[in-house]
Amino acid sequence: MCGIVGYIGNKKAVPVLVNGLHCLEYRGYDSAGIAVLENNKIVVKKDKGRVANLDNMPGINDLEASIGIAHTRWATHGKPSMENSHPHMDNSNQFAVVHNGIIENYNELRAFLTEKGYHFLSQTDTEVIPNLIHYHYTKGVDCEDTFLGAIHAAVNDLKGSYALEVISNLFPDRVVVVRKDSPLVLGKGKEENYVASDIPAVLAYTKDFYLLEDNEYAVVYQDHVQFYDSNLVEHVKEVKVIEWDATAAEKNGYEDFMLKEIHEQPMAIRETIKNRLNLGEKCLFKDLAITKEYLQSLNKIYIVACGTAMHAGLVGKDAIEKLCKIPVEVDIASEFRYRDPIIDEKTLCIYISQSGETADTLAALKLAKRKGAKTLAVTNVIGSSITREADYTVYTYAGPEIAVASTKAYTSQVVLLTVLAVYFAELLGSYEEAKLEELKTEISGLPAKLETVLEEEKTLKDIAEKIYTEHDMYFLGRGSDYHVAMEGSLKVKEISYIHSEAYASGELKHGTIALIENGITVIGVLTNPELTPKSISNIQEVVSRGAKTLVVTNQDLANVSFDYVVRIPETNSLISPILSVVPLQLLAYYISKTKGLDVDKPRNLAKSVTVE
Ligand code: AGP
Repeated sequence: MCGIVGYIGNKKAVPVLVNGLHCLEYRGYDSAGIAVLENNKIVVKKDKGRVANLDNMPGINDLEASIGIAHTRWATHGKPSMENSHPHMDNSNQFAVVHNGIIENYNELRAFLTEKGYHFLSQTDTEVIPNLIHYHYTKGVDCEDTFLGAIHAAVNDLKGSYALEVISNLFPDRVVVVRKDSPLVLGKGKEENYVASDIPAVLAYTKDFYLLEDNEYAVVYQDHVQFYDSNLVEHVKEVKVIEWDATAAEKNGYEDFMLKEIHEQPMAIRETIKNRLNLGEKCLFKDLAITKEYLQSLNKIYIVACGTAMHAGLVGKDAIEKLCKIPVEVDIASEFRYRDPIIDEKTLCIYISQSGETADTLAALKLAKRKGAKTLAVTNVIGSSITREADYTVYTYAGPEIAVASTKAYTSQVVLLTVLAVYFAELLGSYEEAKLEELKTEISGLPAKLETVLEEEKTLKDIAEKIYTEHDMYFLGRGSDYHVAMEGSLKVKEISYIHSEAYASGELKHGTIALIENGITVIGVLTNPELTPKSISNIQEVVSRGAKTLVVTNQDLANVSFDYVVRIPETNSLISPILSVVPLQLLAYYISKTKGLDVDKPRNLAKSVTVE
């Protein structure tokens, strides 16, 4: 939800800021803007619409400034418009601010400032911030660095979440930043420093990063950075070297990030299981200090997440329950955090989040900690907020996921949860060793089988071209096939804007079958031989009512006739979702393409949902 970039150094700021915004556009794309210090004046260029609008905005490329801040917006307060675009300035035009997050008490602050004579040009919550800074600055602050002091005083007035960057023509040698519940990193260069909402945005320039903590301030100069805690006590911070490949966040010849990421799934799985799963040996999670005694003390595991990550949790539940014999409950983070769940020290709470920044997931984690449970984060982003809150962290190594629609993160999460379940089962001795070894062999074979599934791309493209004009679709499955159906349905909804629903096959006839009529598309996932006859009967029920059917299966269904069948390799049913979801991802991708939509940046969405 909104991406921010900052730069101070020895080169032109504009290209760094605009390139960074292009990388962060997945976080929001309603409007974009920059503010730079040019000849000791703040110059703002901004407009509604995509970052590309900035590329050749009149005058922007003539700006020589080497200090600036930038923003790409996902609108919360106020519709996308030039006035509501960031950066925002105070009434005296001396302070410019970009903000990611939400200021919950902005109405009161606005009333307070209005009474003091300030006026507002936008409907945003953010515009109170530069004016509050100006208010405190002119009133006087008890701090040697009056710029930092004024920002600190303003921040103390704020309720909500924020990652802020501030520049001022009164202090042309620095950018001041602070964060709370919204991500912010600093990239350290030689005679230059960078600020960004995430690492890939400035990875092309440096691999040395400072990961800012909640309530931490940084005053960023060209040649050094000073860090302060919430009481403005200065401290020293360690640099973290990030060994990511900058090109991992580029399209590498693919038309869209989503397609590239779908094709990266074999590699993502190889990386995620590497060093953790070795055949003939016990699984290993080096930094996970979970003991057999602790696992034995558990009476419940919760898996909590949002969207696709929650769908991965549903698959993970099956593996943990089957292999470890510990009851697992899966919940949506936004529900869990407000429903007073029964949690104590005998509960392990697992939180799944690709970004590690999802507001509801973070709040749900903090709740479990307060109730005395241990928390385990499953995330893809190194150093993300969730890793700093959780007792334990295990990473998926899927590489940066840029497309808003999650694909490789999902399959990596499912494989990681399965390996974790095997690891726990080995510690507990809760499942037959030979069977665990068989499962481990199947997991190791997944990348090769995924390559085979990806060969079906052309078939899925052809099917998509036949069904892309549909208004409704239904996805059916039983057991983990149902969980895959849920994920397939979400993919279709979010990138092709077709209404779709997922149903447990047996549940359809309890109401929803009334909606099935001639020509409607029903997509069935059938991978569990024990459940296939039942699922086939359910699909026959919709065929008799005129539905067109697409079936994704790992079985020979020669005796039954469906309109389209996509065959995938067989594997253990605990991990079949990793294979069966891929045709659904490709189908959604090609429906969206055929409709001419922006696959990577679907309407109304953003990659990380850092607001409630
Ligand atoms: C998936 O395609 C979605 N864009 C969305 O459901 C996503 O999985 C969800 O917002 C959770 O994000 P997280 O994994 O970063 O926490």
